[in-house]
Amino acid sequence: MQRYTWITDIHLDQMQPDTTARLLQMLRQDDPDGIWIGGDISQANSLLEHLGQLDDQLQLPIQFVLGNHDFYLGSIQSVRKDVESFCATRERLTYLSRSSWLPLGEGVGLVGHDGWGDGRIGNYATSTVDMNDYRLIDELSGLGTVERLPVLQRLGDEAADHVGRQLEEALQECQHVYLLTHVPPLRAACWYNEEAADDAWAPHFTCKAMGDMILGIMRQHDERQLTVLCGHTHSAGICQPLPNLVIHTGGAEYGQAAIAGRFHVG
Ligand SMILES: [Fe+2]
Ligand SMILES: [Fe+2]
Repeated sequence: MQRYTWITDIHLDQMQPDTTARLLQMLRQDDPDGIWIGGDISQANSLLEHLGQLDDQLQLPIQFVLGNHDFYLGSIQSVRKDVESFCATRERLTYLSRSSWLPLGEGVGLVGHDGWGDGRIGNYATSTVDMNDYRLIDELSGLGTVERLPVLQRLGDEAADHVGRQLEEALQECQHVYLLTHVPPLRAACWYNEEAADDAWAPHFTCKAMGDMILGIMRQHDERQLTVLCGHTHSAGICQPLPNLVIHTGGAEYGQAAIAGRFHVG
């Protein structure tokens, strides 16, 4: 049996040093075998420093994905590349978007990807939600609503492709797989104030490509179990769209230290 502690949307760049110290202390007290981080760790200009701080101070395996905020003031492509290179120098850090699936214990595996709000759920065309993503991330800034949509869709497809390949492989050997991602894959998992996101918010807060992929694969593996851990909405909830598929959405508040969940695996 192994124990993992899950945190998400910690936004360390917006956390006071004493709160960061308290979060680190909470994680140390948990004394887990590893830590899962569901993205929105920091932003591009401070991400590597914060990942290094987590690694140095916790001295535990950390498996993570990135969220939209991690790319603010940078580009998705260069941040992902820089994080991959950084992890190559840090044995305990694993960036799941650039990694094969990981065996966690007897019959249990972990897959992951950042995911992306891919504009396909709700009503993207009429949504007036204006994300900072669309100003602060190189690949998205300066694009109009119409030209932005195929970019969002490509980001969602890329996430679903990576996880689809890794999940199929993991399910050959594992009874139970965990999927760590930032963006909720279904509207039912896109909690906000205890309700599913409406048509204006859902396009920016759900990754339909990921949702369709996991539903398709898990319907073909009804003897296997998938547990998804996502964040991004900062509102906690659990949904179970299939008997063998449970999705946990982690809650968070800017500037607050919190554990999103604890899992015993194997
Ligand atoms: Fe967040
Ligand atoms: Fe986010």
